[in-house]
Amino acid sequence: MRSTIAKINVANLKHNLQMMRQVAQKMEIMPVVKADAYGHGIVEISRILRAEKARIIGVAFADEAVKMRESGDTGEIFVLIPGTEYDTDLYCAYNLQASVEDFDVLKKLSHEAHSRNMTIKTHLFINTGMNRDGIKPNMALDFMNRAVELPGIDMFGILTHLAGSELEDRTFSNQQLDLFDSVLAELQNAGHSFKYIHALNSAGTLNFSDRPYNLARCGIALYGYMDYKNLSDKLKLKPILELVSKVININTVDAGDTVGYSLNYISDAKRRIAVVPLGYGDGYHRVLANKVHCLINGRKFPIVGTICMDQCLIDIGDENVNIGDDVVFIGNQGEESVDAYDLANAMGSIPYEITTALKWRIPRIYI
Ligand SMILES: Cc1ncc(COP(=O)(O)O)c(C=O)c1O
Repeated sequence: MRSTIAKINVANLKHNLQMMRQVAQKMEIMPVVKADAYGHGIVEISRILRAEKARIIGVAFADEAVKMRESGDTGEIFVLIPGTEYDTDLYCAYNLQASVEDFDVLKKLSHEAHSRNMTIKTHLFINTGMNRDGIKPNMALDFMNRAVELPGIDMFGILTHLAGSELEDRTFSNQQLDLFDSVLAELQNAGHSFKYIHALNSAGTLNFSDRPYNLARCGIALYGYMDYKNLSDKLKLKPILELVSKVININTVDAGDTVGYSLNYISDAKRRIAVVPLGYGDGYHRVLANKVHCLINGRKFPIVGTICMDQCLIDIGDENVNIGDDVVFIGNQGEESVDAYDLANAMGSIPYEITTALKWRIPRIYI
């Protein structure tokens, strides 16, 4: 096997779920496993979460749910991104809960479900200010009044999504949630009821757990990160993924020698350069070169030159580093650590993008 692997720590995943359950208080956690569980593996992660009594799991697209079903998952699955006319058949064939924002799609779902003699559970998505998914609040009552008349449709849930739940200033989130609550009250006064009422992602669950909802859609927190490190520290989350490899070659260069593609890095002295089989073809972004460190024998070393598709180069100076030594790109070694925040900060991004980018060329090992 190739020496680059991603180790997924199952105990840490369970710990993070436990932490989110505590903070969510009366809300049930809907783990979000879209984008291959943020790069951690949708089938394996879902299996672990089901064993930990996750009743309902969220994905972005129906195809992701199909992957879960084909692996034997029979539990409740909610598709977060509103359904389209192109995937109504999947919702029925695989018994998925759909998020809806378009009455024509709902009618198509109704037709499909009715013709199969089944009922499909749907959640009405309310756009309270993010302006990505959902219907305008003032259209909700009319939508619901018509929706409940459709055969084969059970309006099972209602949701919104916050645009900035992680922000210190909570004004906008509170406005969104107040709007959501007023739409909910209007619908309930008109006689509509919902089994699931949900509005909060991971940071929302941390910041707004006093709101009267019964489900929280948590993704990133389960993988041990949040938008900012201070938030995951507050929740005592533990990253669940370690990205490790090995030194496969060592080259000695002199002052003036070039290292890697495009003559980007010219050595200013005699030094040793370790070659490690991890590159942008694995999702280790090219822009990280000369900006981040990795760990070898408990010490930090810079990644130099240009990150190639399959390999990268590390300046090991005069240190006692040998072919076969472990190299940690995300994780801990001795007293040192590198996490997805370090990589995200170096490229002006967030940890979500770091773990989600890791390609399936890297074997995931669940420990
Ligand atoms: C609609 C919706 N709900 C929940 C989530 C989960 O968010 P997080 O990973 O921040 O918990 C996402 C992720 O982007 C989302 O799009």
